Amino acid sequence: MGQLTMQTRAGSHTIPAETGKTIVELAKQHKIVWGHACQRGVCAQCRTFVVEGAEVLNEVTKEEKLRLRKAERAEGYRLGCQIQLVRDGDVTVAHRPY
Ligand code: FES
Repeated sequence: MGQLTMQTRAGSHTIPAETGKTIVELAKQHKIVWGHACQRGVCAQCRTFVVEGAEVLNEVTKEEKLRLRKAERAEGYRLGCQIQLVRDGDVTVAHRPY
């Protein structure tokens, strides 16, 4: 298992990089504040910048394609409620709501 580093305005947290759970679910599990509301890819309060480790994450979801502009996605923005680790590796993400 790799490490997941989650950067928020309040600081940086490093936790075990569990597969099969979303960034929002992992944040909740570890009591890390990662803004979210809908958890369905609609509100974008969980907007996340993938700093490193995009290759171990799931493919961009249909919801992310609908909610985020193509240019944002190309820069590395995703939605925390949609991102899951699908294989072992180190990942760093930053919470970047609008
Ligand atoms: S929680 Fe609403 S888009 Fe992620």
